[in-house]
Amino acid sequence: VLNNAKELPLKGKKVLITAGGTKERIDPVRFISNDSSGKMGYSLAKAARDLGAEVKLVTATNLLPIPFGVESIYVQSSEEMESEVLDKFHNLDMVIMAAAVSDYRPKTQANVKIKKTNEDLTLVLEKTTDILAELGKRKTGQFLIGFAAETNDVEHYALDKLKRKNADMIVANDVSKEYAGFNKETNEVTIFQADKEPIQISVRSKDLIAEEILYAAIDSMHDDVD
Ligand code: CTP
Ligand code: CA
Repeated sequence: VLNNAKELPLKGKKVLITAGGTKERIDPVRFISNDSSGKMGYSLAKAARDLGAEVKLVTATNLLPIPFGVESIYVQSSEEMESEVLDKFHNLDMVIMAAAVSDYRPKTQANVKIKKTNEDLTLVLEKTTDILAELGKRKTGQFLIGFAAETNDVEHYALDKLKRKNADMIVANDVSKEYAGFNKETNEVTIFQADKEPIQISVRSKDLIAEEILYAAIDSMHDDVD
C-alpha cells in the first residue's frame, strides 16, 4: 500500500509562491525593476507540485515557461502582486515570497511617454507595501516563508526580517557571491527559523535548493501539529 502522506507530504495543501522582480511603471514605455529572474520561485513551484501541493504561482516575469500542473497568474507591479496574494491568503496553507518586490515605486505614473528636456529629471519614489510583513500581521496558521537577499551581515539582516515580518522561515542568500542569488542557475542559502539552529544548504541547482527549503518547511509544519 502506498503511503501518500509520506510520499506526498504536501498532498491537499494549497501553496502560493511569488516569483520574479516586480515592474513599477514610470510611463507607458519605462519602468523600475531589479535583477531577479524568477528562477528560484519557479523551482519552488515545481518542487511543491512534486510533493503533492496544489500550487499557485504569482509571477512577475513572463520569460520562464510555466511548470506543468501549476496554476499561474502574471502580475506586473508590487501593487498587483499584493492584491493577488492578499485576496487568496485566507484559503492557503503556505506562502513563499520568492519574488523580489520593489521597495519603491514612482509616486506618479505618466499616462503618456515623458519627453526629454534639457533639464535634469527628478523621479520621486514612494514606498510600496511590504507584502510579507502584511501577511505576517494577518496570518491565521499559514506557514510563511520569505527570502532575504543580502550582500553583507547575512545572519543579522535575515534574523531581523524573520522577526520584523513575523515570518516562519527566512531563506537568506548572499547575492555578492558569483554562484548565488539573482539571475544565477545555482544558489547557496541558509534557512533561519525562530528557536531553531540555522540550516545551511551548500551550493547546488535552484531545483535542489527548492527541495531542501520545502523539506525544512514540512518538518517545521509537523512540529507545530505535534
Ligand atoms: N518583500 C515583500 N514586499 C516588499 C518587499 C519585500 O513581500 N515590498 C518580501 C520579499 O519577497 C522577501 C522578503 O520580503 O521574501 C525580504 O525581502 P528583502 O528585499 O530582502 O527585504 P526588505 O524588507 O525589502 O529589506 P531591504 O531590501 O532593505 O534589505
Ligand atoms: Ca527589498
